[in-house]
Amino acid sequence: MSNPHSFYILTDTHYVSKRSYVPGSKSFARREKGDQIALKASPEILRSFFDEIIADTDTDAVLITGDLVNSGDRCSHEDFIAELKALTDAGKRVFVTTATHDYCGMGDDENFFKAGFYTEDGSEPAACVRKHELAGLYHDFGPAQSDSVDPESGSYSLKLFEGVRLIAINDNGNGRSHCGLFDEGFAWIENEIDKANAAGEKVLLAVHHPVISPWDVFAHVVDFEMFGGYKRLWALMCEKGVRVVFTGHTHVQNIRKYEDAQGRYFYDVSTTALVSAAGCMRKVTVDTDENVCGVSTVRIDKIKDFDTGGKSFHDYIYRLNFIGKIEEVLPLALTDWDAFLSEAEGVLPTEKLAAHKGLVKFGVKKAQNLKMKTLAKFGRRYGDITKEEINAFGAEKALPKLFAIGACVFAGNGPFPPETAEYKAFMGVLRRLDKICKTLKLEAVAKLLPEGQTLADVAEPFIYNNRTGDDDAIRIEL
Ligand SMILES: [Fe+2]
Ligand SMILES: [Fe+2]
Repeated sequence: MSNPHSFYILTDTHYVSKRSYVPGSKSFARREKGDQIALKASPEILRSFFDEIIADTDTDAVLITGDLVNSGDRCSHEDFIAELKALTDAGKRVFVTTATHDYCGMGDDENFFKAGFYTEDGSEPAACVRKHELAGLYHDFGPAQSDSVDPESGSYSLKLFEGVRLIAINDNGNGRSHCGLFDEGFAWIENEIDKANAAGEKVLLAVHHPVISPWDVFAHVVDFEMFGGYKRLWALMCEKGVRVVFTGHTHVQNIRKYEDAQGRYFYDVSTTALVSAAGCMRKVTVDTDENVCGVSTVRIDKIKDFDTGGKSFHDYIYRLNFIGKIEEVLPLALTDWDAFLSEAEGVLPTEKLAAHKGLVKFGVKKAQNLKMKTLAKFGRRYGDITKEEINAFGAEKALPKLFAIGACVFAGNGPFPPETAEYKAFMGVLRRLDKICKTLKLEAVAKLLPEGQTLADVAEPFIYNNRTGDDDAIRIEL
């Protein structure tokens, strides 16, 4: 027997209304460069994905987990809600949660987002949405269909399908260093899970901020970016048998498992930002007869009605991101210095680079000429790489391989699994560097790393997916 029901998940849509900047404005172009996500194309990207959802007549539900707009401005919210209404008009049930980009900081918490209208050369204040207004604005997209709303955070609980309950958590807190829940919020979630368990319903959780860190080093360095109270949620999910939470915020496509000392576990399925370096959405299918939740990934090739200058959707948004931009501008340092500085502005510290032109050119040339063979030999004794594998690199350069790893930071699924010569070469280098740090007693490096971890440990999940094996898909027993 099989009884599948599907829904789509999108997150971090960072929508910017066309009404919030002068077309062709330099100041807005600078803003987009600084944010490193597709802002100008955000309406067309959203609509391109929504068209896919509308075309899928088997799937009637859509969940969007926060950072709906980019800077809490009112006109972006208005236009975004009009897009949501196009989905509901097409017969879809739409549920959203909100997050820090969805309201403006007014000095009463730590949120620093400001609504602005971008003129040709600068910006001026624009009408903004305050935090307390979000519940009213988005009432029709979740709370109105729910049978319980948490008064503390506006989180809500609803029957998603027969036998399946969605608990959508709104981050409460101070807009930056605590984006999560407090005692009352946790008590409400616990009660909702208990009621669902008693009714024989399977529970799916959704929240904007990460519950499991995409990589250990993330929580180590920026713990405040995690869901506020995440360890408490770990314990609750394990104790109550909730097997999955869907998250966003990090803009990283990532699936990780947490398992407690008693072998109880759950997965955090994090979806990359729709407008980020790897923009995609996920399709989730819950089968209540087989008791499983299947997650897959849906990508698009083209942004409808938007000129990407001949680039594919993926290439267009990847080049807006720091890593893609560096990959694009680095060769210009040797061929066209002025173009290099102009393209790198807003992404790299161009003033400092301009002051050290000779040194920058020397460094770029060295980096471009670095061969895989040289790296592999440096780490040979530490990386289990054979002479044959080293020789097989021939004249291959290291930089394109490093960019191949960089391109997967947000997209997930690092490119070089342990059986590849690249993995052995890079891990050999990292292990040798660990040895050097240990010998030289470099405490500063050790402090940057999670307790008990080495540089090799920290880098490995970027080189290949050592989490679940696939960041794009999973089948979870509920
Ligand atoms: Fe975001
Ligand atoms: Fe966020």
